[in-house]
Amino acid sequence: MADGPAPIHDIEFTLNGDSVSRTVSSRMLLVHFLRDELGLRGPKIGCDTGHCGACTVNYDGKVIKSCMALAVQADGATIDTVESLAGESGDLDELQESFREHHGLQCGYCTSGVLMSAKFLLDRNPNPSAEEIREAIHGNLCRCTGYVNIVKAISAVAHGDSGLALIERLNREHATEVDA
Ligand code: FES
Ligand code: FES
Repeated sequence: MADGPAPIHDIEFTLNGDSVSRTVSSRMLLVHFLRDELGLRGPKIGCDTGHCGACTVNYDGKVIKSCMALAVQADGATIDTVESLAGESGDLDELQESFREHHGLQCGYCTSGVLMSAKFLLDRNPNPSAEEIREAIHGNLCRCTGYVNIVKAISAVAHGDSGLALIERLNREHATEVDA
C-alpha cells in the first residue's frame, strides 16, 4: 500500500452545544481530535483499544468510546463530553457533586468516562437499581475505587438519598440479588 499524506476532510458538528467546523485527516481518531485539536482534556486515553472506557463520550445520544471512532465520523453529529456537565460558571452538576460527596473517584483518570456512562443511564432510567448501575458502567474500568463508591454516587443522585439511608438501601438490594 502506498504511503503518503492521508486525505483530509471538512467536518461540521455540534460539540457540547457549540457548532464546530474543522479540517481533519481521515486517519485521526476522535479522541485525539477532541484532545489535541480542540483542547478538551475530559476524554482520557487509557488504552487506545476500546477496553478501558476512559475516552467515553456521548455521540448522537449513545455512549461510545472515542478511541474507536474517527474524527471524520463527527461530521454532522452531536457530541457531548464530560465538559458539558458543569455549568458555565464551572459549578459541578449533581452527578459530579455526588461523586465528590460519596468519594466516587480517587486518581480520577476513569471518572470522565464513568460520568458520561452514568449520565446516559440516568437520562433513560432515572430510577436504576444498583445492578442496573453496575451494568451501565461495565465498559468503564476503574483501578482505584473498587466501584462501590461509584455505584453509591450514581444511586444517590437517582434516589435522592445519602448516608445511612443510601447504604441500607444498597444492602437491601444486594441481599435481594443474592437471594434471587
Ligand atoms: S482509551 Fe478508549 S477505551 Fe480506553
Ligand atoms: S479513580 Fe483511578 S482509575 Fe478510577
